[in-house]
Amino acid sequence: MNDLLIEAALRARENAHAPYSHFRVGAAIEDSAGRVHTGCNIENASYGLTMCAERVAIFKAMSEGVRAFRRIAVAADTEALAPPCGACRQILWEFGGDLEIILVNPRGKTETYRLKDLFPRAFDASSL
Ligand code: THU
Repeated sequence: MNDLLIEAALRARENAHAPYSHFRVGAAIEDSAGRVHTGCNIENASYGLTMCAERVAIFKAMSEGVRAFRRIAVAADTEALAPPCGACRQILWEFGGDLEIILVNPRGKTETYRLKDLFPRAFDASSL
């Protein structure tokens, strides 16, 4: 159900480590068995080694052996809801396929997309 995934993303955002940008992001990805795996952004003094919430969530899940996903919720405190960055779209596409992407803010605003619409004409294994 949408709400549990959204709540998990909002809760994960509380764990964001974002002392440089102060832009806190949470993500919660639902696998094909209905389990939820969460992530938050984790910044680093080198800046470039920062890891986004979405990739933390999907990599955590994959590290537990999960290989099939249904949906991901992404939470940030913005009025114009924040979509996954380009790097995250590439990773989500390769490992999650045409996921449902639910964007949310702490005031309960949501928007739903398909990854295919946010990331058309992707480069992936079929391009090799
Ligand atoms: N960030 C995410 O966690 N996910 C995104 O899709 C966009 C950006 C993080 C990275 C960085 O810590 C902060 O937001 C500002 O870019």
